[in-house]
Amino acid sequence: MAPRKIIIDTDPGQDDAVAILLALASPDEIDVLGVTAVAGNVPLPLTQKNARIVCELAGKPDTLVFAGCDAPLVRKLVTAEHVHGKTGLDGPQMSDPTMPLQDQHAVEYIIETLRAHDAGTITLCPLGPLTNIATAFKSAPDIIEKVQEIVLMGGAYFQVGNITPAAEFNIYVDPEAAKIVFDSGVPIVVMPLDVTHKALTTRARVEAFRALGTKVGDMVAAWTDFFERFDKEKYGSEGAPLHDPCVIAYLIQPDLFTGRHVNVEIETVSELTLGMTVADWWRVTDRAPNAMFMGDLDSDGFFALLADRLARL
Ligand code: BDR
Ligand code: CA
Repeated sequence: MAPRKIIIDTDPGQDDAVAILLALASPDEIDVLGVTAVAGNVPLPLTQKNARIVCELAGKPDTLVFAGCDAPLVRKLVTAEHVHGKTGLDGPQMSDPTMPLQDQHAVEYIIETLRAHDAGTITLCPLGPLTNIATAFKSAPDIIEKVQEIVLMGGAYFQVGNITPAAEFNIYVDPEAAKIVFDSGVPIVVMPLDVTHKALTTRARVEAFRALGTKVGDMVAAWTDFFERFDKEKYGSEGAPLHDPCVIAYLIQPDLFTGRHVNVEIETVSELTLGMTVADWWRVTDRAPNAMFMGDLDSDGFFALLADRLARL
């Protein structure tokens, strides 16, 4: 089967970085048409730079990287340096990238690419706030029916929230954008905290990355070491959740995940629960299902896939 064509929309972020590496390491299954950066974990000048650092680390400096929206649709940007550090990729020493940033705006790139391809042949993979995707849908509604699927990291049901008691970071940062995406009618697969909190690093899993004996293995281990401290303190867990790689792992090995096709609505009004993903997990309403909301993950299989693919870079 031909590799699946995807656009990765991202705000790197150590876990975004691992997701990008996983995609670039899997050319038999995945064709990364472009990487579009959005403001999220850190401001846009850093996320677009980090995206290029990661593509270079993967040995793929020809990857097309675009900068997109620098702020949510209607709100002030909220960032997460408290998790990811000042640069977004704190941990190991890194040099500035030398590969270019494309001149075109990420939103224009998304629109142009979807228009240039047959309907149903491009999958969007958002790993950050949904601002770029929603802006593209708003300014070019004709592209909506051309999207094959959106596979995204965001939201939560049983885990409820990480940035507020009620909301997950990616959805909270731009709830109006999330609402546009969830209301779009495009088939959506959601990797919420319920799943990503099972993609937990352990000492053995981090050491398996280091044992690859490659630059990529060392970097991923060092990023994870840094990123872990926050979740260990907060949740008392053994390690940190590798949220965003779940999206890419799903494209390669969907049977690692199980979930339910349910209705998911986004709260955009209440101050208390802003950005909440109200998932009808128990199907207690007659609202039409609009998303495959994942709930479980084979975590050993996930980490085996990750180590296998990262070893290829
Ligand atoms: C999400 O927020 C970011 O901090 C991570 O990169 C991930 O995309 C988890 O809530
Ligand atoms: Ca992210």
